[in-house]
Amino acid sequence: TLHLEAMSIFDMGNKLLENIRKVNFTGASGQVQFDASGDLIHPAYDIINIIRNGMRTVGFWSNYSGLLSTISPEALYSKPPNTSLANQHLYDVIWPGETAQRPRGWVFPSNAKELKIGVPNRFSFKEFVTEDNGTGSIKGYCIDVFTQALSLLPYPVSYKFIPFGSGTENPNYDKLIHMVESNEFDAAIGDIAITMSRTVTIDFTQPFIETGLVILAPVKKHIKTSWAFLQPFTLEMWCVTGLFFLIVGVVVWVLEHRINEDFRGPPSQQIITIFWFSFSTLFFAHRENTMSSSGRGVLIIWLFVVLIIVSSYTASLTSILTVQQLDTSIKGIDDLKSSNDPIGFQVGSFAQDYMVKELNISRSRLRALSSPQEYAEALKLGPKEGGVMAIVDERPYVELFLSTYCKIAVAGTDFTSRGW
Ligand code: SER
Repeated sequence: TLHLEAMSIFDMGNKLLENIRKVNFTGASGQVQFDASGDLIHPAYDIINIIRNGMRTVGFWSNYSGLLSTISPEALYSKPPNTSLANQHLYDVIWPGETAQRPRGWVFPSNAKELKIGVPNRFSFKEFVTEDNGTGSIKGYCIDVFTQALSLLPYPVSYKFIPFGSGTENPNYDKLIHMVESNEFDAAIGDIAITMSRTVTIDFTQPFIETGLVILAPVKKHIKTSWAFLQPFTLEMWCVTGLFFLIVGVVVWVLEHRINEDFRGPPSQQIITIFWFSFSTLFFAHRENTMSSSGRGVLIIWLFVVLIIVSSYTASLTSILTVQQLDTSIKGIDDLKSSNDPIGFQVGSFAQDYMVKELNISRSRLRALSSPQEYAEALKLGPKEGGVMAIVDERPYVELFLSTYCKIAVAGTDFTSRGW
């Protein structure tokens, strides 16, 4: 019933197109005119700021420059196109509320759902994050990082911190992770290590601190007495060296005393000369002349030996007085694994499970320590008197700990690398 046969065919499409291309009039959005390839010539727009019912032009955009500008496109056409971004500029926009300050998003209605953010209520190393007992507010380095990051977002986020843990001991961080997983918290913020097992169930942001497990061990001080200057050589070495001084003195005397006036005189005088000559070679300060060529040969070789002895002594003494002070008998995690002595860890930390599951260290060897004071005490007592041989903890806590306690040092390098 459409009677298609009644329709006529329009075969003047090209003519129509030609006519459309030739249009030249000023429409609501400006001049309408097309170039040879059918593109609008110099498309340009006004940028307007609508204020209540009125409006105000704050600038223009034109295809000619491709930039936002306060200069009208017509004025730009007479100049060569300048597409430098530095020229991009608009007049100030007046935002609702009569302010020139750019809004960061919609204000949340007061009945909107706030994000529930769990934060560890730490007992030790409170500098990182804890609940302030006086004001009840949550503070610490991690909170500062979070609020700074929020201020960079282009929209506001409404949240409330919910302290996790009693504050009388460090909370168990794995439980905190479970509460995020089970949606009791929408998120958690704090010194939370990004571990493999945790990434299976929850998502982490980019880390904001590098951390890794390190070993904290007491330092063995080598310099215990003022007789430290004897330590570079063993007793045996001292005796052998002394003996050689005498032997060389006697050998040179044997080779020289027949022909050399310096090695003559009454027997007592000659014995004194032997001692004096041989020990003064220690400082290359011998005055007696050597005349025989064999005597000179022995002396040259001996002086070379003395040079080696003096250099080694000086080098060893220097290192004993400096580097060796930081020497501990524990060099790395293998020393902990091969021993049977107790190892300390921080209450609530993943370090406990890591040592048991990944390093196969027996759980019965692990001792929970809750504060820096307990760390120092346990290390001071040592494994024989109810303390620990070493403590395994994360580097940021250890660094904070070492800033107040001495005679304790980090042994070896980090054996895991993670972030918070
Ligand atoms: N940072 C530790 C953890 O994440 C707690 O001490 O388990």
